[in-house]
Amino acid sequence: MKGIILAGGHGTRLHPITMGISKQLLPVYDKPMVYYPLSVLMLAGVRDILVISSPQDLEGFRRLLGDGSDYGLTITYAQQDEPRGLADAFVIGADHVGGDPVALVLGDNIFHGPGFSGLLQDTVVDVDGCVLFGYPVRDPERYGVGEVDDEGNLLSLEEKPARPRSNLAITGLYFYDNDVVDIAKNLRPSARGELEITDVNRLYLERGKAKLISLGRGFAWLDTGTHDALTEAGQYVQILEHRQGVRIACIEEIAWRMGFIDREACYQLGTRLAKSSYGRYVMDVAAAG
Ligand code: DAU
Repeated sequence: MKGIILAGGHGTRLHPITMGISKQLLPVYDKPMVYYPLSVLMLAGVRDILVISSPQDLEGFRRLLGDGSDYGLTITYAQQDEPRGLADAFVIGADHVGGDPVALVLGDNIFHGPGFSGLLQDTVVDVDGCVLFGYPVRDPERYGVGEVDDEGNLLSLEEKPARPRSNLAITGLYFYDNDVVDIAKNLRPSARGELEITDVNRLYLERGKAKLISLGRGFAWLDTGTHDALTEAGQYVQILEHRQGVRIACIEEIAWRMGFIDREACYQLGTRLAKSSYGRYVMDVAAAG
């Protein structure tokens, strides 16, 4: 399974902050935003990852993550000249995906909840069609929305409907079989001129090959789209980390626990950041074994 992190766009809703830096490099409490979606792919066991961003922002991601080898990953980069839609990721990333299934995660999506790694690892075993994740929200009209029957089967999908048929938002994490590349290449742009991921997902649904997993109560899918939402996401992470003494989306720790690097390598990564509490945490967890 290949991975793609889509981290482009203009971040206009966060202006002026995002006029000088990519949204997905902004801090969410103690780490850059992109660590959160990256850790989702890592927890799923996905190690070959393409980061897509705008030409002016790509260098920042490269400086931060390098070629991924520090974390036992292979990270490559590609640019998206203009935000042409989420499904454009598969057109840009066609060579990277090759003949494999692929996981796409949006660079600004934050997931946290009990049993999530297990759920991800079960999901990647056999992706026949697409797998989407639904999350109940108060304001579904801002998202892709899924309608389900009593058994949880997906009935319809709509992108930002004025009158949503349910409160189930489709989150920015998607698993696909290899057909997605051809589907994306043949997709017609929507009225707003974008290759819509919801159109891709609807095609799978029409073929009877779209599966929806509902992330229920007790799970956090955090928004980072506005100044308030970004601050609140940081506060959520801060409270949880302070209370429990563990760090969410610590890519060094995850790389070690997933067996991508050994304990000594994890400790060494911590020493490079030893002046920050984040770095000392990495050293401590590695030392404690
Ligand atoms: O976050 C989940 C939602 O993401 C889904 O529920 C929607 O179905 C999906 O369309 C998307 O909605 P958004 O309104 O969040 O899409 P937005 O255009 O804001 O793009 C999401 C992120 O992807 C954003 O950080 C910018 C980045 N992006 C977006 C586009 C359109 C790119 O990197 N390239 C692009 O071409």
